Amino acid sequence: MIPQADPSLRMARHREAIMLAIAQVVDGKSYILGRQVERFEHAFADSLGVQHCVGVNSGTDAIALALRSAGIGHGDEVVVPALTAAATAAAVLQIGATLRFADVDPVTRCLDLDQLHTVIGNRTAAIVAVHLHGHPIDMPRIMQLAAARGLIVIEDCAQAHGALIDGRAAGSFGHAAAFSFYPTKNLGGIGDGGAVATSDSALAAQARSLRNYGWQGRDRISMTAGVNSRLDELQAAILTVLLPHLGTHNAERRDVAGRYRQHLAGADVGLPAEHEGAVVHQFVITVEHRDAVRRILRETHGISTDVHYDSPLHTQPAFSAFQSGPLPVSERLARDMLSLPIQPEVASGAVDQIAAAVVAAVADAASTDSPRQLGSR
Ligand SMILES: Cc1ncc(COP(=O)(O)O)c(C=O)c1O
Repeated sequence: MIPQADPSLRMARHREAIMLAIAQVVDGKSYILGRQVERFEHAFADSLGVQHCVGVNSGTDAIALALRSAGIGHGDEVVVPALTAAATAAAVLQIGATLRFADVDPVTRCLDLDQLHTVIGNRTAAIVAVHLHGHPIDMPRIMQLAAARGLIVIEDCAQAHGALIDGRAAGSFGHAAAFSFYPTKNLGGIGDGGAVATSDSALAAQARSLRNYGWQGRDRISMTAGVNSRLDELQAAILTVLLPHLGTHNAERRDVAGRYRQHLAGADVGLPAEHEGAVVHQFVITVEHRDAVRRILRETHGISTDVHYDSPLHTQPAFSAFQSGPLPVSERLARDMLSLPIQPEVASGAVDQIAAAVVAAVADAASTDSPRQLGSR
């Protein structure tokens, strides 16, 4: 069986250096907010070209703490795309703000920038711009719109480590950016982890305080009611080992994606948009009879796929109260999208086989799956 992703293969590739890094943590004197976290924070900020990086417990917390540190909270409305990880919306609700869903662009699958202004209302205070599947959204355009309306912008870079927009890093445009180091991410650890990146010193100081009970500096006095959301030394040490390889890993992902494109060019599937700065966190095709194609790939060809995401946020019970208008593109994509294996350690040697299986499965599904009801597309 070819897995859709397997982070343990990436760890195996860098095992020796990782085991050394783990040993350093074990033998070190400080297990919480020590040298490893500090070293990683500096290296990651440098890699993005921002002034500050604050290591936190997860990508979800990174979004929540970035928003809170920018002054967003109770009563504020935050615009998020309807098609993203549930975490993007959960982070907004976690800080007591409310949600407003915006539809996505059928080509980029990120926020539809032609429609974005239509969902911004009097109570809107912030936008979370998600670089979905590693496709960089047009941040200069979002920042322009946000400046005109006085809005805070947080970039959700959970799927976009190393992505570039006109040569500049995704994560360096917004007031702050949130990263996840979940194991399957382009830069991932062996557990949970996240970071807030920003060049705003006051915002960074606030995030640094909030992640550690609201303490400031060495005083154990809570200035605000913070949380415990610290990146741990072990994850930081491993991420420091992997960070210098991120460029190579991303180039390998782009190579796999390019070969998929060649193989699937004439097939009956929709291909993801191309972007020279994309980091292809997922290679997501669209296909009719998606669930049948997926089943045939698994059962007949031994290939695992995934779906990111099959339920737009406004259709999920936790968030449905916040729907205020139609979101047809998100719904259509959620029905048709299929994530092929893209992680280089899984897919590099198997692209030809996977692409051929996709072509066969699509033909198979079209002949066996019941036709879609008229008008359902
Ligand atoms: C777009 C997006 N935002 C936020 C998150 C949340 O990250 P974490 O799982 O580290 O909390 C994820 C991770 O799945 C994600 O893909």
